[in-house]
Amino acid sequence: MTATFQKVDTFDLVIFGGTGDLALRKLLPALFHRYADGQIPAGSRIVGVAREPLDDAGYRAQLRDSLAGNGADPGKLDAFLQQVFYRPLDARKDEGWDAFAALIGEQPGHVRVFYLSTSPELFEDICRRLGECGLNGEHSRVVLEKPIGRDLASANRINDAVGKVFAESQTYRIDHYLGKETVQNLLALRFGNALFEPLWNASHIDHVQITVAETLGLGRRAGYYDRAGALRDMVQNHLLQLLCMVAMEPPASLTPDAVRDEKLKVLRSLKRIDDSNAGQLTVRGQYRAGVAEGQSVPGYPDELNGAKSDTETFVALKAEIENWRWAGVPFYLRTGKRLPERVSEIVVAFKPVPHSIFGASAGPLAQNRLVLRLQPDEGVKLWLTIKDPGPGGLRLRHVPLDMSFAEAFGVAQPDAYERLLLDVVRGNPTLFMRRDEVEAAWRWADPILAAWAEGNEAPRPYAAGSWGPSAAVALIERDGRTWHEDSE
Ligand code: BG6
Repeated sequence: MTATFQKVDTFDLVIFGGTGDLALRKLLPALFHRYADGQIPAGSRIVGVAREPLDDAGYRAQLRDSLAGNGADPGKLDAFLQQVFYRPLDARKDEGWDAFAALIGEQPGHVRVFYLSTSPELFEDICRRLGECGLNGEHSRVVLEKPIGRDLASANRINDAVGKVFAESQTYRIDHYLGKETVQNLLALRFGNALFEPLWNASHIDHVQITVAETLGLGRRAGYYDRAGALRDMVQNHLLQLLCMVAMEPPASLTPDAVRDEKLKVLRSLKRIDDSNAGQLTVRGQYRAGVAEGQSVPGYPDELNGAKSDTETFVALKAEIENWRWAGVPFYLRTGKRLPERVSEIVVAFKPVPHSIFGASAGPLAQNRLVLRLQPDEGVKLWLTIKDPGPGGLRLRHVPLDMSFAEAFGVAQPDAYERLLLDVVRGNPTLFMRRDEVEAAWRWADPILAAWAEGNEAPRPYAAGSWGPSAAVALIERDGRTWHEDSE
């Protein structure tokens, strides 16, 4: 059966930071995959922009090398690269903008997408220049990579500066976690089934866990990461957005503002964590040398050539949502680099049955858990108690009803960027963060960052390849709970 796709208008997509890590590892491969599926209209153009003095041929050669490694069909790759162009530009200098504007001006009828995959410090300059070149017309959109700023004040400055050139309706603040298949599926699961919603509240749910674990370390990103840290890099955006998708009220429809209004209410209901309680509710860690995926790997300080840094590469925290639906239900969040496996999942743990009719010989009664696996092996598991098959008395067992998307549907899941980039071209902002969401997320994160800064305590060390500092285990065990393990 041939897939049918929603229509996409012919477009020009400009990537500022076109030679950077994100562009080469994610954005261009995503565009190539959509091209290979026939979803990029003929005549559309992809324009890389960066400071390197390359021409179209040089940029194409660079892309050919990075894309060919992924087993791309050489014929399709050549054809794709014909639609790719490059213009050298320094956002802070005058040179190059006229040539760039002339190139874009060749196609006045195209949808124009300007993807700012650069440091947020450049967003203002780039947007001002785009405005001066007259490239902010009604068919233009700007995409801002996260994190937007490093706190509420800097986010406001950036949003104000961008807002002088592009209307809010033209501004797409990307959080690629919202484009992941399983996150989308959370909407289908929650609002397309009658089973879950009646139980989806504090009367029936004991707690929720959200884990985003990575095996990778700092890589080539020291310049950015050491100034950000895990709270700004992952929690303020990706993990909070996942929390919103779990916790929001049913939106009246899937229109962009209906969904975003509900997420905003969740963000605004988060209990404040500040210097009065950060010590009990948060744990920050930094990895040291250890073993990752069978290889010895250096510690974070070694990767910074021994420079002293108090940047956290791991965070675990207990969030609470102060509203009727969720009062008293902890949301335990954790994320880190150099953890034992790459796994992102949401675990919804239900309350135990009120009374057990089974004797001690039946074994312990475990909680029902709904586990949404975002990656790898996307799927849904519902852990149930059943009778252990066979004679010899009634013994209980905890087993998962297991749906792996790959096994059920046999198709590879597209990368989140594939969906999101084309959503921008289509003009659909549902899966992008509105300004007030970003602000609300910073309003929650800022006092945590301030409490850490005032507390002046270094992050706790943990060995690469472990699940973070032992304090993260203590954080959840203090409440009589444990981090979910798939073998339960
Ligand atoms: C990015 C962070 O937003 O998400 C990175 O800046 C992180 O530090 C990445 O590695 C994780 O994304 P994914 O899709 O690989 O889980």
